This record gives sequence, structure tokens and C-alpha cells, in this order.
Amino acid sequence: RPAIVPAAALADDAATLDAVCRVLDAGDLVAVPTETVYGLAADATNPAAVAGIYKAKGRPAFNPLIVHEGTVEAAMRHGVFDARARLLAEAFWPGPLTLVVAKRPDAALAPAVTAGLDTVAIRVPRSDAVRLITARLGRPVAAPSANRSGRVSPTSAEDVVTELGEAVAVVIDGGPCVVGVESTIVGLSGSHAVLLRPGGLAADAIEAVIGEPLVRPSADPARPQAPGQLASHYAPRAAVRLDATNVRAGEALLAFGSQLPADADNAVATCNLSPSGDVSEAARNLFSMLRKLDASGAAGIAVVPLPQGGLGEALADRLARAAAPRP
Ligand code: TXA
Ligand code: MG
Repeated sequence: RPAIVPAAALADDAATLDAVCRVLDAGDLVAVPTETVYGLAADATNPAAVAGIYKAKGRPAFNPLIVHEGTVEAAMRHGVFDARARLLAEAFWPGPLTLVVAKRPDAALAPAVTAGLDTVAIRVPRSDAVRLITARLGRPVAAPSANRSGRVSPTSAEDVVTELGEAVAVVIDGGPCVVGVESTIVGLSGSHAVLLRPGGLAADAIEAVIGEPLVRPSADPARPQAPGQLASHYAPRAAVRLDATNVRAGEALLAFGSQLPADADNAVATCNLSPSGDVSEAARNLFSMLRKLDASGAAGIAVVPLPQGGLGEALADRLARAAAPRP
């Protein structure tokens, strides 16, 4: 098992922070809590360390990683920030937003971080752990979600251990993630701002700041805009059935709000994303509840219809991928 380090120890105890940074310095992997999901971090400037991320996740080499920094100033060293990118960085960082911008030619990143692209994905998360580690290390970390490729993202330290086991040396335990779905990814390398992945920051908040609508790439799964946005992803073992208005024999139920679907009593197991009908609470609970229902041994998971606005866009995206045919 990996060593589990409480997040508070990084702030309280310089020796602990140093020990964690030594692990990264040696090219090994450290799982870090962020407000969205747990990330699997490596020194973004070390090619061998970055290769270790791809290996631990079983991630295809064409799928680039997000560079994580502790401050807006440090983040801007890796990419070209035009006025629009600066507006978004200043409005939402630290926070659940990733910006894809042109990579600066002098960016000191291992080539595999960007999978050979001339753009780079950058984020400043709301995470004391990432802030302290990058400051002490003096380098950025590359960090995808800390799950095996194609599986449900981890929102607790325990989930990380379940997903990755000994492939990760240290897990920083920051408790459950408060947002619960991954960051919203906005592409700014072209003339239009593109919503590459809906996520923990609602699209309309972004549109309000840049004063223009986000372009939604065509939903052609054969041509994903973010290279990692493959049709099947976030997949539990059980088959996922969306917009369910009843529960079939052998199914578990993922409910929302106070109204339960027909035959709810049949459910092998039930979780309610938000009994009060709060979409943020639903996002926070989504991945942990998918894991829990999967662990019930149910053959399928029936998911009731969910609201569409705000974070509902991220919920719909993750659930559509969870329900997509598996490769
Ligand atoms: O909330 C999050 O974003 C979490 C936490 C750990 O920060 N990270 C995360 O990373 O979700 P990951 O690797 O699971 O998803 C990153 C996505 C992938 O779909 C990848 O294809 C896309 O970002 N991406 C990375 N670089 C890109 C680029 N240059 N252009 C387009 N998409 C890019
Ligand atoms: Mg992921």
C-alpha cells in the first residue's frame, strides 16, 4: 500500500513537505487532493516521471496531461496568455478551470506532458497541497485524475488506493473533494473559446466573464476535441442506464430529488445524489456513488433524469460516457 499523508501535515510540518517533494524529485508519483478530483502528480519537467504517470494509469500516449501550478503567475510561464486567457485566470484561479493555450517555446515541460502538441493544458487548483508542493519543489506537477484510464475518477484518498494501489508511492489525504467532477476545460488557442470538457465550473459563468458564448465541439466521438474525451470513460463495472423512469430487476438506483422512480423498492441498492435537488451536491456525490453502487454487485445502475443547467452539463457528460458502449 502507498503511504497516506494527511494534507494538513504538509502545512504544519516542513519535514513532511520535504519528504513528499523528495519522492517527486526522485521521479515517483504522489496522489494529491484538489477541489475537483484527486490527481496523480509527477514532476512535469522530468520525462521519466511523466512516463510513470502514463504507465500507472494505462493511459494512451496520445492523451496529454494537465500542468498544475500553485499561482497564476507561475501558470503563465508555460503558455501564451492573451487578454481573454488572463481574464479567465484572474476570475477563476485557483479553481475548477483548465485553460488550453499555445505552449510557450521556452516552457520547461517534458514533451510527453503535452503528448507532442503545440498547446498546453494548465490549471491552478484550489488545493493547499498542490500550492505547497509546487512552491517547495520549484517546478510544476503534471497530474491527470488518479484513476486507471477509462475508469471512475477518485474523490477520496481511499478511492485512489483502490484504483492505483502500489503504483503510487504517496497519497496526500485531503478528505472528500468538494466539487467532485473534473475541471471545466476551455480551449483558447484558436479564435473562438471552445468548451473542450464541461466540468466543475459552469459554462455560463465563463461566458459571463469573456462576454462571448463558448463553442461546443461537435459530439462526434470518433473525433474528440480534447484527445482524452473518448466516448467510453468514467465506466463502472455495472451497465449504466440513463433517464430511467423505473427500476428493473437486478438494478441499483441512482436517484435525485425527493421523487423516486417506479419500482424503486426493487433496487438492489440506492443512492440519492441530492435529496434536496441541489446540482452542486449531486456533482460532489456522483463518482463516489457510482463506485458504491458498483460495489453492491448490481448488474446495472438505473440513473433518473437530471437537471440540465449549470453543473448539470458536466453531470450529463460524465454519465453519458459512463453509459457508452465499452471498447
Ligand atoms: O479536475 C481536473 O481537471 C483533474 C484534476 C486532477 O486537476 N485532472 C484531470 O485530468 O481531469 P485528466 O488527465 O483526467 O483529464 C485531462 C483532459 C484530458 O481529456 C486531456 O485530453 C485534456 O485534458 N487535455 C490535456 N491537454 C490538452 C491539450 N493540449 N488540448 C486539448 N485537451 C487537452
Ligand atoms: Mg481523467
